[in-house]
Amino acid sequence: MAATRERSLILVKHDGVQRGLVGEVIRRFENRGFKLIGLKYVQATRAQLESHYEDHKGKDFFEPLLAYGSSGPAVAMVWEGHGIITAGRAILGATDPIKAQPGTIRGDYATAAGRNLVHGSDSEKAAKREVDLWFKAEELLTWHRAGAQHLH
Ligand code: TYD
Repeated sequence: MAATRERSLILVKHDGVQRGLVGEVIRRFENRGFKLIGLKYVQATRAQLESHYEDHKGKDFFEPLLAYGSSGPAVAMVWEGHGIITAGRAILGATDPIKAQPGTIRGDYATAAGRNLVHGSDSEKAAKREVDLWFKAEELLTWHRAGAQHLH
């Protein structure tokens, strides 16, 4: 099977760091077989979050989202693999954790949209924009999984 370059920007947002869920989020993506190609611990600025969440400008949750998101560090990751955007969103669960299925990260660990722990790109266009916003090209390290051609 041809190697795929589909990528998604996954964030453990500051509430996820506060809750000690960094390892749990990584574990779920690793267990599924996706490939980690970028990882950093980052203090997001308001400007960066304003750009990241530009589609939500003007909504009532926009200001709280920026204020909380910039109040402490987050973990930014780029995961790669066939179907990562759709599967990544499924691993995270619904935006409103009350509607998120048990077994998803939000369904297992969250109760409020404003503290829903994680972010995942929702389209290829968004993924490209978000990966470029959080990572420099040289911070993405591609690699091959030895002896496991069925994975990516
Ligand atoms: P959105 O892009 O709709 O969801 P997702 O993170 O699942 O892609 O919203 C971005 C973030 O805005 C969401 O993760 C948490 C926050 N938010 C609220 O606080 N309240 C809301 O009602 C919504 C829709 C989002």
